[in-house]
Amino acid sequence: MSGQPAGGIMNCDVKDLSLANAGRLRMEWADRSMPVLRLIRDRFAEEKPLRGIRISACLHVTTETGNLMRTLVAGGAETTVCASNPLSTQDDVAAALVKEFEIPTFAIKGEDHDTYYRHLGAALDARPMLTMDDGADLVSMVFSKRQELVGDILGGTEETTTGVIRLKSMEADHVLKYPIVAVNDAQTKHMFDNRYGTGQSTMDGIIRATNVLIAGARVVVCGYGWCGRGVAMRARGLGGRIIVVEVDPIKALEAVMDGYEVLPIGEAAKIGDIFITLTGNKSVIRKEHFRVMKDGAIICNSGHFNVELDIPGLASLATSTRDVRPFVQEYRLGDGRALFLLGEGRLINLAAAEGHPPAVMDMSFANQALACEFIAKKGRTLEKRVYGVPPEVDQEIARLKLISMGIAIESMTQEQQQYQKSWQEGT
Ligand SMILES: NC(=O)c1ccc[n+]([C@@H]2O[C@H](COP(=O)([O-])OP(=O)(O)OC[C@H]3O[C@@H](n4cnc5c(N)ncnc54)[C@H](O)[C@@H]3O)[C@@H](O)[C@H]2O)c1
Repeated sequence: MSGQPAGGIMNCDVKDLSLANAGRLRMEWADRSMPVLRLIRDRFAEEKPLRGIRISACLHVTTETGNLMRTLVAGGAETTVCASNPLSTQDDVAAALVKEFEIPTFAIKGEDHDTYYRHLGAALDARPMLTMDDGADLVSMVFSKRQELVGDILGGTEETTTGVIRLKSMEADHVLKYPIVAVNDAQTKHMFDNRYGTGQSTMDGIIRATNVLIAGARVVVCGYGWCGRGVAMRARGLGGRIIVVEVDPIKALEAVMDGYEVLPIGEAAKIGDIFITLTGNKSVIRKEHFRVMKDGAIICNSGHFNVELDIPGLASLATSTRDVRPFVQEYRLGDGRALFLLGEGRLINLAAAEGHPPAVMDMSFANQALACEFIAKKGRTLEKRVYGVPPEVDQEIARLKLISMGIAIESMTQEQQQYQKSWQEGT
């Protein structure tokens, strides 16, 4: 449903505005688990640190993102939203953002390639002064096709590992045209969101899509970074027998000492029951690996882009394909074996489940909101660099999260503080 919603308030393209009430209720439910973001929203409502700032956000359009958008609007921003993945939009939230919160939104679950990019373009038509990305698609479009917008833009934020890697490459090649705050690099983001959020929601997505029993299954986790560690931990908790595939010797060693089997993908491919990629790399599982997989193998990706799986390679091996359940596509091979690809290889936690729980997005999006405030405050004084979130902001978010959980921590005595600074005190 595109065009003007009730009252002709704004431009939008969402699936069905009649879903708005359901979306608002789910946003409220999520908000209960986002106390740090709520505190920021209350302060923003009083101080209006984003007054007059136009923000275009390209994020997964979920309940948590909805609450982040409300926070930015409370701070005085004019906000426009589009999806950062064609399959991750929650259509009821998109409707609520338009109808209940009057935020122009361009996102439909299952949108095709052209619609996805048209929506990005629509978000940029709002002439942002600040871009907010999850995977650097908006920045890439500004730099490649909409350079006329650069002059207005104070800076941007980036949510995920893959986006930060792209942006740091742009900085190294001197093509970054405005400053970016790498939200993913905050400790209160990647240590929690990538590990516990991706860990839980990836298993949730696989189970919702397939109803497979994890206990006893051989689960192959490709990539033992923050996300991979989380998935391996949670899959083991469900009784899975974990095999880790890594290219980094230190991470591989860590996986070994964490008690997992470590194998190259060529070996793991022959024995795995469930395959999950979380590397940020491309063609991690290729045609030669699909060729040797067992009948019934389940394959999915929870890394940012679906290029982690060589889907054209899989398709070239298949004599037929069919959808057997929502988000489950069967690839039948010539010898009768069937391999099952989940969610078209898109982030399975967002395609087949609801993404990360709000309690963890609370910290990620507190970082996003404070990063916007930082950019708005610093304005044009920032250089065309990728900045980290200031450490004091990271500490403060952790402190507030602990308070919200009712957890008190120890503090150092003066003597201890002195001891920590001293090099003279001996044994
Ligand atoms: N599903 C989600 O909701 C979600 C959430 C956060 C991040 N992500 C995405 O997940 C991906 C991983 O993020 P991360 O924070 O764990 O990154 P990370 O850099 O911490 O870990 C990635 C790991 O993959 C390994 N790797 C690279 N190529 C490989 C290959 N060919 N085979 C095996 N291992 C390989 C790297 O050595 C590294 O240890 C990124 O694309 C990120 O954007 C997804």
